[in-house]
Amino acid sequence: MGYYRLVKNKISGFSKLSKNEKLSWLNKTYFKNDKNTLSTLKKYWNQNNDLQKIHDEFAENTISNFYLPFSVAPNFLIDGNNYTIPMVTEESSVVAAACKAAKFWCNRGGFTTKILSFKKKGHVHFVYDGNKQKLKSFFSNVKSSLLSDCAEINSNMKSRGGGILEIELIDKTKDISNYYQIECSFDTVDSMGANFINSCLEQIAKSLKREAITYEKFNEKERNIDIIMCILSNYVPDCLVRAEVSCPVNKFNEFENIDSQNFANKFCQAIKIAETQKVRAVTHNKGIMNGVDAVVIATGNDFRAIEAGVHAYACKNGNYKSLTGAKLKDGIFNFWIEIPLSLGTVGGITNLHPLVKWSLNLLKNPTSKQLMKIVAVSGLAQNFAALQSLITTGIQKGHMKMHLINILNTLNATNEEKSLLINHFKSHTVTYRSVSEELVKLRNFEI
Ligand code: MEV
Repeated sequence: MGYYRLVKNKISGFSKLSKNEKLSWLNKTYFKNDKNTLSTLKKYWNQNNDLQKIHDEFAENTISNFYLPFSVAPNFLIDGNNYTIPMVTEESSVVAAACKAAKFWCNRGGFTTKILSFKKKGHVHFVYDGNKQKLKSFFSNVKSSLLSDCAEINSNMKSRGGGILEIELIDKTKDISNYYQIECSFDTVDSMGANFINSCLEQIAKSLKREAITYEKFNEKERNIDIIMCILSNYVPDCLVRAEVSCPVNKFNEFENIDSQNFANKFCQAIKIAETQKVRAVTHNKGIMNGVDAVVIATGNDFRAIEAGVHAYACKNGNYKSLTGAKLKDGIFNFWIEIPLSLGTVGGITNLHPLVKWSLNLLKNPTSKQLMKIVAVSGLAQNFAALQSLITTGIQKGHMKMHLINILNTLNATNEEKSLLINHFKSHTVTYRSVSEELVKLRNFEI
């Protein structure tokens, strides 16, 4: 057969097929024309054609809608304002944890926040084979033309108070021979800004190439600047927000089997472990991202970009460590997070997805900076709730309570069976096996 294998089930022009044609092909190819396969997908189609069309057009090859639970967590007191935060997550204990932490801190002064920096970056990555000094002088000479060529792209952003902040030539030849970057910094105001940033960068690259070709001091080889790529960076350590809580230690007076001082000590110890031990830090930060991603998704933001940027930030000094910190001083407990978040409250799907619009309305139509604060608080609250459980009752107590519902649903328990078994498992250990055994007993009238 030679170098290329015959690929089974290969299809050309799939994206050009109608939705029904796509379904028929899938059903024939993968499900032996089983009728149930299609009805499962169709059950999730929205009966409102306009709404369905919006969702169909978000992506390529859409065949149905994929639901995730949309929840809210009330009682978040942030800088003196009370918020109910929208959260989209499939993980059963996340919203309950958010509510618990919000209520706890609502009675202890709430969360305070601060934007530490608000700058995003993007790069023109290029190769220049020649004299470094000449490249530097060339860049100083053409810098203003590079910027003025972006004037049209930049004008709308500028009128909103943002735009291109600065551009710099960076010598990266120590890492890769002949490799340089033009690093551009941006203020994208209330938009996440990916399209704006990438358009500016592509224009800068075009202008750079054009100017190099006619630059007299370059020789033939130097004139031939080779643009490798132009792209924003999702590493946003200069788009940073801080959120914190603090209270006298003696206010930790409502936890099971642990006194206030011991709670505060153990909490700080847990933070130190996450600051120094990678094995713990990753899980610790995962818990923070439970809170962060849920709000990021509900507000139509790009959770992959946020995840990538946050984890890179967590190891900015070479070691992966906790995003949160805590200290105890003079009887006062202080707990904080510093997290890079590049978010938008305009553009993208924020004006298109009806539930995203609804979420932003619920949050009183925040600016991007306000949303950064809310998301950071959600991460901090989630981490507080996780550590509170971990250092007191253990995590499984809360988790299994929520997990029980999932198990009961998997076993098709009726509402009556659910309520009886939820009661039973208040004092028994939840495992898949124990729940299914109890359900069988219940159905055989044994309990
Ligand atoms: C589970 O989704 C998150 C936790 O593991 C976070 C943590 O350990 O801090 C509970």
